[in-house]
Amino acid sequence: MHSGLLLLTAVSLLYIAKTHSSLFAATGFAIIGYVAIDWLIPRVGPSFIKIGLFGKDLSKPKKPVLPESIGAVCATIYLFVTLFYIPFIFYRYIVNPNEELDSSKNNEFGWFPHKKLSEYLSAIMCLESTVLLGIADDLFDLRWRHKFFLPAIAVIPLLVVYYVDFGVTYVLVPGFMKNWIGRTSIDLGIVYYMYMAAMGIFCPNSINILAGVNGLEVGQSLVLAILALLNDALYLTMGSESSKESHGFSALLIIPFFGVSLGLFKWNKWPAKVFVGDTYCYFAGMVFAVVGILGHFSKTMLLFFIPQILNFIYSCPQLFNIVPCPRHRLPKFNEKDGLLYPSRADLVEQPPKKFFIPVLKFLHFFKLIDLEYDSKGNLISCTNMTLITLTLVWFGPMREDKLCNRILLIQFIIGLVTIFLRHALGAALFGYDNLQISVFN
Ligand code: UD1
Ligand code: MG
Repeated sequence: MHSGLLLLTAVSLLYIAKTHSSLFAATGFAIIGYVAIDWLIPRVGPSFIKIGLFGKDLSKPKKPVLPESIGAVCATIYLFVTLFYIPFIFYRYIVNPNEELDSSKNNEFGWFPHKKLSEYLSAIMCLESTVLLGIADDLFDLRWRHKFFLPAIAVIPLLVVYYVDFGVTYVLVPGFMKNWIGRTSIDLGIVYYMYMAAMGIFCPNSINILAGVNGLEVGQSLVLAILALLNDALYLTMGSESSKESHGFSALLIIPFFGVSLGLFKWNKWPAKVFVGDTYCYFAGMVFAVVGILGHFSKTMLLFFIPQILNFIYSCPQLFNIVPCPRHRLPKFNEKDGLLYPSRADLVEQPPKKFFIPVLKFLHFFKLIDLEYDSKGNLISCTNMTLITLTLVWFGPMREDKLCNRILLIQFIIGLVTIFLRHALGAALFGYDNLQISVFN
């Protein structure tokens, strides 16, 4: 009954989307995606286990076995939605193609010209390749050095469409540097394309390494989606015409993503019934990279990734094997009190590189890590370098759901501050912001 009502609402939204904005279609499809995921997960979960796609929930008393890679279901539904979506978004141009010729009459948000279709299809292609990579990783547990650069290949269609349709490769110079450099912008040329490819590598991987607590992979993606949508809403209500189109496009891709992810979150949140797998992490990260690149606000999008960027920088000593990196860096579960404690890297069997020991002590001094010494004063372990462990070092042991909520709250607060600073400082630094709002100018 509950799902029936949701579906009825979704169909009504799809109906009014024809005469109003495609944002109604986006919301309708988000609801359909949510209902489909919620219906499918309990039905397909056992089949995943049957073919060997399962994992042990390491932070539970009996380490129950749960279906793994359920993110593949979520990504598939999203991709179906993006295909069904096409007639709704491009409706007016399909029934009356000549309107495209007079684009001045058609700046009303929600009806995209055919030119946008190439961007849209390149986004779908990129996401499909990413999902394939994620599934391959979940099936074969690819090595980090192999899988790390593969998302850059998935980004190629986006970069080509960006080159043909937009092609802007310059970055603005902050006001105080204008006199010094003697220009208002710098053209980065091919470096800008390399930067966008790097974003395609970073976003998927960064979500995958901020993981290991029930609900965190999907939770952080939901928070990122909310932040991106808040930013889109600012532009759609107060932005210039060109920014309205980019941010409308962004909202159209993110709203259904939010719907399918919410459906997955219901099953992955503590106590998890399913795991999302690397498929979801790559797919979710790539959705944000695609939206940032095609919406021409990749730098702002990266600002929303500040927690993931900090987690990556903090993780570097372990990722580059300066400090040993265990296969799993997720927190340590204590069966006696049911709480999670900081997990540790053993420094006896595989000591850290000598030059790094003072850095470890420095980090310890500033409470950015916890070190353990034996009775003779030799270093025997350090806490794993992830934001998850750091949260436990700072706030003490806690239950898994509390830990997840704490990290998501911190991420959300950082994101809100970022949105404010982006527009307040952006206007102050560059003397210009796409938002036509006096408080930011
Ligand atoms: C990344 C992290 C790894 C972390 C893992 C958890 C790096 C370099 N890698 O590895 O430290 O342990 O994600 O996802 O930072 N699991 C749980 N509870 C959860 C989520 C996962 O117990 O809430 C366990 C399950 O056994 C699951 C497995 O983690 O099967 C999934 O690990 P996988 O995604 O394959 O690890 P990586 O992405 O390689
Ligand atoms: Mg993973």
